[in-house]
Amino acid sequence: VSLLKGKDLLSLYDLSNLEIDEILTKCETLKTMHKLGADYQPLKGKTLGMIFEKSSTRTRVSFEVAMWQLGGHALFLSNRDIQLGRGETIQDTARVLSRYLDCIMIRAYSHEDVKLLAKYADIPIINGLTDYEHPCQVLADLFTIKEKKKKLSGLKLAFIGDGKNNMANSLLYGCAKVGMDIAVASPKEFLPDKEVVEKASIDAMMNGSKITLTEDVFEAADGADILYTDVWTSMGQEEETEYRKKVFAGYQINQEVLSAADKNAIVMHCLPAHRGEEITEDVMEGDHSVIFDEAENRLHVQKAILALIMA
Ligand code: CP
Ligand code: NVA
Repeated sequence: VSLLKGKDLLSLYDLSNLEIDEILTKCETLKTMHKLGADYQPLKGKTLGMIFEKSSTRTRVSFEVAMWQLGGHALFLSNRDIQLGRGETIQDTARVLSRYLDCIMIRAYSHEDVKLLAKYADIPIINGLTDYEHPCQVLADLFTIKEKKKKLSGLKLAFIGDGKNNMANSLLYGCAKVGMDIAVASPKEFLPDKEVVEKASIDAMMNGSKITLTEDVFEAADGADILYTDVWTSMGQEEETEYRKKVFAGYQINQEVLSAADKNAIVMHCLPAHRGEEITEDVMEGDHSVIFDEAENRLHVQKAILALIMA
């Protein structure tokens, strides 16, 4: 039986090193089987509900295709269509949906809402992005890094951008779990939250890795094996767009920053990207970029997560 069977996946911080290993190993098997065209349908008769309060391309499509390929079914539940969007409580929604579905994936504004859903649901809840975390993305990222670099522990990842956003938080937790050094470069007011850094530091210490916070992009990028960035303005922060464009100017992966990294560095971005803001067109399309392999791996990782939680 899998370690993840029947469990929620709300935060990367909650996963043990063994559970992360289990996901990455399963993912490798499923990706290989997929490429060989082998059938693997452990989720026959199982149904996943997918609640979306925010837009999505990758998360929506990869989860839906993942369920289909595993022999199950996925329902797309836009917040604009279900009663949740008209004020039905999360508690009631959780209890009703638990009687129809086998698992729920939710993309929500508030992480607290997702925790509440998990508290009242009898079925596993998967976080498909909140204001606080994006664990499925970072699991796909760890898989991608392992695929490209053949290891995780001992590498250095530099995250350049909003140190307080969901990606920064999940990367801090994820890197610390697998013993990867992480350096976050952000403008002073957007450096990671103390509480997240403290939690991640405990894992980093246990796994022998280092966390560095800096306002200096070049200090973070120095010798990095992975350069990672994300949008300056996340979903839900649209009103701050103009302000953020000013504050984040310079927090960009470009050729100069790439030259500061290791000569075999890979460049990653969870997407969607704003070319010319957090990353330049030439780096995004250049030889170091693994961004589209990373996007593909969302599918394989999602399949691993779903199979381990539900099969
Ligand atoms: N990276 C990611 O989660 O993309 P979507 O917003 O398109 O799902
Ligand atoms: N930080 C971004 C990630 C999108 C996948 C956002 O929340 O909009």
